[in-house]
Amino acid sequence: MNLLVTGGSGFIGSNFIRYLLTETDFNGQIINVDCLTYAGNPENLSDIEARFSDRYVFVKADIAHQEEMAKIFDYYSIDAVCHFAAESHVDRSIAAPDAFIHTNIFGTYTLLELARKRMHHIKRFHHISTDEVYGSLGKNGYFSETSPYQPTSPYSASKAASDHLVRAYFYTYGLPVTLSNCSNNYGPYQFPEKLIPLMILNALAGKPLPVYGDGRNIRDWLYVRDHSAALWTILENGEIGETYNIGGNCEIENIRLVEQICGIIDNHPSLGFDTSRKDLITFVTDRPGHDRRYAIDATKIMADLNWAPKTPIEKGLRETIDWYIENQEWIDRVISGEYRNWIEQHYHF
Ligand code: NAD
Ligand code: TYD
Repeated sequence: MNLLVTGGSGFIGSNFIRYLLTETDFNGQIINVDCLTYAGNPENLSDIEARFSDRYVFVKADIAHQEEMAKIFDYYSIDAVCHFAAESHVDRSIAAPDAFIHTNIFGTYTLLELARKRMHHIKRFHHISTDEVYGSLGKNGYFSETSPYQPTSPYSASKAASDHLVRAYFYTYGLPVTLSNCSNNYGPYQFPEKLIPLMILNALAGKPLPVYGDGRNIRDWLYVRDHSAALWTILENGEIGETYNIGGNCEIENIRLVEQICGIIDNHPSLGFDTSRKDLITFVTDRPGHDRRYAIDATKIMADLNWAPKTPIEKGLRETIDWYIENQEWIDRVISGEYRNWIEQHYHF
């Protein structure tokens, strides 16, 4: 299998590639196409690139660039696609939606068209999406694969559009697609703009921990390794045309989650702060259109594909916090912007 992974230098994509090459019996080749936005950091996979030089290749390209992507499909004889590439941060989509339309909608369309034109060759096109396409839940209920689409942010609206396009290519052209909509991921290599890595880094640095609104919004947290396992299961056994919701079965109010992170850092044996990190919690102005609650009903993937989330939140948070503590150089390079220089030094595009 020549598997095109888009957005493989980002958070989930890089964890997935690492998982596939080191923890599964996948024996094909991975072609990671990423245009390296601020969120793309090929340093995440530098060890993998050295260790699997015969089975892993990185190509810098914009998924919305039709000619470049056509060359990649043909040169590498792509026969399956796992599509992660996206603009992924809600706050950025509120400030500047353009890139979200470009990558999430036009980029996905471009890939679909290229795959459709090579339909004799393409065995699967898997599209990674979010539970945010379903909008916001009230106190009760869960998102299932049949929940209506009600996106509320430019990010979720652009992902909803991409989901509709992917399904349209299945119904109209018979493209062999699968889709997955997952809940909030966390784990190593996450860019420190999302809640969990931002709180960890600020807590370690003694900076304020900005909690939006009343802090009572609820997310369903999924450890990125469990997500990777779910994706591999879908790639192997997911039924063509089907959508699978992937959740962590782990709903928590933001404020409780931030307190839990503070508690782990307060009691961390290698740290020894003399005041509680909870003193840094600062309530700030709410995000506009802030969805109140997300929660996934993952019954379908559990029943049909025998997948279940394995990592309890306490364990996942401890591993994640340890990873950030042990990878101070990665943090320094990301925060200072130096990782952009690393890209220049290691690749000559
Ligand atoms: P990320 O922002 O960490 O990484 C996105 C990657 O895509 C980056 O490496 C970036 O350089 C690349 N990219 C962006 N535009 C591109 C373009 N035009 N061409 C090529 N590459 C491009 O995102 P993530 O958190 O790893 O999310 C991956 C996927 O999972 C996205 O589709 C996102 O919508 C979805 N998702 C994420 C979460 C989450 O909690 N992070 C939850 C649900 C769904
Ligand atoms: P985020 O990680 O941006 O993911 P998403 O918006 O896609 O769910 O945010 C998770 C939750 O944390 C969300 O309810 C917004 C909140 N939040 C804060 O309270 N403070 C912050 O600094 C950030 C980034 C998020």
